[in-house]
Amino acid sequence: MFSQEMEKTVLELTAPTKGILAADESAGTIEKRFKSVDVASTEENRRSYREALFTAPGLSDYISGVILFEETLQQKSATGVPLPQVLADQGIVPGIKVDKGTQALANFPGDKVTHGLQGLPERLAGYKTLGARFAKWRAVIAIGDNFPSTRAIEVNADGLARYAAICQELGIVPIVEPEVLMDGGHDIARCAAVTEEVLETVFHALHRHRVQLEYMLLKPNMVLPGKDCPQQASAEEIAAATLICFRRTVPAAVPGINFLSGGQSDQAATANLNAMNTYAQQQPWQLSFSYGRALQAPALKAWHGAAANIGAGQQALLKRARLNSAARQGKYLVSMEA
Ligand code: 13P
Repeated sequence: MFSQEMEKTVLELTAPTKGILAADESAGTIEKRFKSVDVASTEENRRSYREALFTAPGLSDYISGVILFEETLQQKSATGVPLPQVLADQGIVPGIKVDKGTQALANFPGDKVTHGLQGLPERLAGYKTLGARFAKWRAVIAIGDNFPSTRAIEVNADGLARYAAICQELGIVPIVEPEVLMDGGHDIARCAAVTEEVLETVFHALHRHRVQLEYMLLKPNMVLPGKDCPQQASAEEIAAATLICFRRTVPAAVPGINFLSGGQSDQAATANLNAMNTYAQQQPWQLSFSYGRALQAPALKAWHGAAANIGAGQQALLKRARLNSAARQGKYLVSMEA
């Protein structure tokens, strides 16, 4: 019923030189990010910071969509324009994070499950009237000696599939985000094995729930060694491991893969994306970004909560957006950082 609407949204989001800005930090997460630069997480600080990001001059040259937190969807600019409208006026598609975060999975120590399905159709219908055209749901898979369990992977995959089906019923494009965390000392082979099982399970669940793969985007982790693994990997090794894994598990019908940054440094997230896009084999999907920290960290640092630094914060965001746009086209060079 809504296929034309979703096709248009997907086309806009996967524009060939652009990626997605994740600015959907929950109340707890934005408080943590603000604290790192000594800024209090008041409603006004959150509003003005996000307005500054969204009005960075020329942002739409690099950014096709922005994922918002529920609070932001209902906030207005200093001049009274709803923030989703501020984005739409520049040709940037507004989206909304709809999951309610994770909780421990009972009986499975170390595993988590994402909540938020209850009342989701009603909430989504409301978000749509406020301008949201796509959504995001994040499932979290941690790696440890005794986890993840098969059951945790299955239950999270089912949640993602049920969420995606509900979105499509309302004409909203679902971003399906199964994140295998980089916390821990595991090596890249273990991340590859877990990511492969997770993606295989997720696409099986999407199929069983009759989700139309043409009208969704995947937001996965890259295949990386754990943060504390002594054996780190080059961008080329990461690209090879990630693409082998995805070619085995992600159907060609999926239009776009927009990676999360997941705690990688800004430069590593850019270099790794570039390596994927310069990989010898041609891929069936667009390979782009949907970064939160890797786009915002330098902007947050430059801004530091001072109105006088808004321009500097915007320039820091634009620099990362421009370099990731280059990486998304396989045209990034380290010398461009200077
Ligand atoms: P990071 O790029 O900081 O991982 O954030 C992306 C995101 O939306 C996580 O859900």
